[in-house]
Amino acid sequence: MTSDNILRTGQSWLARQITNHTSFGAYFEPLIQLLLPQWRSDRLRSKIVSIRQESHDMYSLVIKPHRRWQDFTAGQHLELTVEKDGAWMSRFFTISSSPAHFKKSGLIELSIQIQEKGQITPWLSKALHAGSIVNLSQAQGEFCLSRQEEPILMIAGGSGITPFRAMLQQLSLMPNKTDNVAKTLMYYARSSEHFLFKQELRKFTEQVPSLQVHFIDSAEHGFLSAQHLERYSENFKTSHIYLCGPANMILHGRKLLTSLKVNWQQLHYEFFGPEPIDLEQSSGANSILFSRSNKQISTEESAPKTLLELAELASTNPVSGCRAGICHQCICQKKSGVVYNTKTQQYSDTGAQEIQLCISVAASDLVLEL
Ligand code: FES
Repeated sequence: MTSDNILRTGQSWLARQITNHTSFGAYFEPLIQLLLPQWRSDRLRSKIVSIRQESHDMYSLVIKPHRRWQDFTAGQHLELTVEKDGAWMSRFFTISSSPAHFKKSGLIELSIQIQEKGQITPWLSKALHAGSIVNLSQAQGEFCLSRQEEPILMIAGGSGITPFRAMLQQLSLMPNKTDNVAKTLMYYARSSEHFLFKQELRKFTEQVPSLQVHFIDSAEHGFLSAQHLERYSENFKTSHIYLCGPANMILHGRKLLTSLKVNWQQLHYEFFGPEPIDLEQSSGANSILFSRSNKQISTEESAPKTLLELAELASTNPVSGCRAGICHQCICQKKSGVVYNTKTQQYSDTGAQEIQLCISVAASDLVLEL
């Protein structure tokens, strides 16, 4: 344990003993917010250094994280929190730059695709400027390359290139001369103008001899198929395969690879946004009673939705954050009934238990404590 870690653990222990909070900052939060409204004890105030346009619908925030922000692994993401119209809003974004770059420059980059109908992504690029303060969580997530002997195949779709850019930048800045493990990137975009970081990715292949990058224009060459896999990555069956991109790409990729007898254990994937709901698991019309607010809604009243969306429709004001099963802010007590968890693909028991609203659908009538 480093001296920094020992100091932090000691401070946290002391804060617990004296204030019953995990830190003194958490205890004094309401007072500090009177002076600094954006301050939150669990968020690290970090400075925007610049904003770089990557394409017509993607920009990168270059950020100098707070000094307490810790290191990370290429491929991880973080939660960015900003205040918009008096309300705190949080979103998860992949860190598109590498730990080696952070070590050298003290900066990280978040490359963000503008969601046309989104509340945050179009707004952020206009509202923020050099010098703006945003709140960052520590990095998290397990979509990272593990050190291994087997070849690596990365399959990216559109803006799903961001974690791979971080991983490949790391490899290029920290080259390992003895590393001969084959690494292949198959990068799909809907036209040749939509490839991001093209020059940089090409440069990585010069710096990392074991790396091959294939830019595949899906309008011209079609989407991921057995023929593409055989053509671009002949050893894909023995590779560790990483998929990142839109939900339909991941679902298609998972299905294709398992039908080609690729071992499930070799597959690693990350959805951009929530994993799609398997609507077949939501059994017909169910009635949901929100016991605290005494409101009721039937799943028949709308196209099948997550319990979070139904709670919002019923105006019960549920708390939420990522809407993707990551932040746990939407946890709610289920008093009775069965839900289907779209992430773990498991049904719950019938009795009382905590559930995450954003990744659960009703599989029977439910009573939720909301
Ligand atoms: S809103 Fe983040 S886990 Fe549900």
